[in-house]
Amino acid sequence: MRLDRLRRLGAAPLLAAALAGCGGGSGEGLDANGRPLDEGGGPGGPLQPTFASIQANVFTPICTACHAGASAPAGLRLDEGSSYALLVGVASAEVPGLQRVNPGNPADSYIVHKLEGRAAVGARMPFGGPYLDDATIAVIRQWIAAGAPQGTAP
Ligand code: HEC
Repeated sequence: MRLDRLRRLGAAPLLAAALAGCGGGSGEGLDANGRPLDEGGGPGGPLQPTFASIQANVFTPICTACHAGASAPAGLRLDEGSSYALLVGVASAEVPGLQRVNPGNPADSYIVHKLEGRAAVGARMPFGGPYLDDATIAVIRQWIAAGAPQGTAP
């Protein structure tokens, strides 16, 4: 009896944490553990739908664990100096009929398919997880929908 009650209580905080990760607007970049991607005062600032912010909050801290250097998977390097030129308007290695980032078209951008776990080839990214939360993916989609500019607004 008592043990069952404790077990039920024990599950509640986990659920609350999972739900909390789904909230927030563009200023609330959280990773899959509900941990802020950036505290807000750091070098990247809060996650915003700009290339610089996505680079600082997502690509550099999360993706370059694998996507860096000469042996980067699928030839995709996501370090600050390489990522834009290898993403925007560039055909996917896995599904060459799709661009990695198709400016103005998040639904047809292979990076979005990979982040949402619905790509035709290979695994969901980041490979092995933890995966990006919905709010973070929404910010990346927003940047692509705006034409995937390299700089901020004119
Ligand atoms: C633990 C290693 C690892 C991490 C971290 C990782 N990836 Fe990958 N990625 C891979 C591997 C391996 C492949 C090729 C196999 C596959 O697709 O499953 C790949 C393939 C891709 C592709 C397909 C490229 C193409 O041209 O077809 C994209 C896009 C991608 N990753 C984006 C990302 C993004 C964005 C992140 C960060 C949010 C990320 N990956 C994090 C290992 C990783």
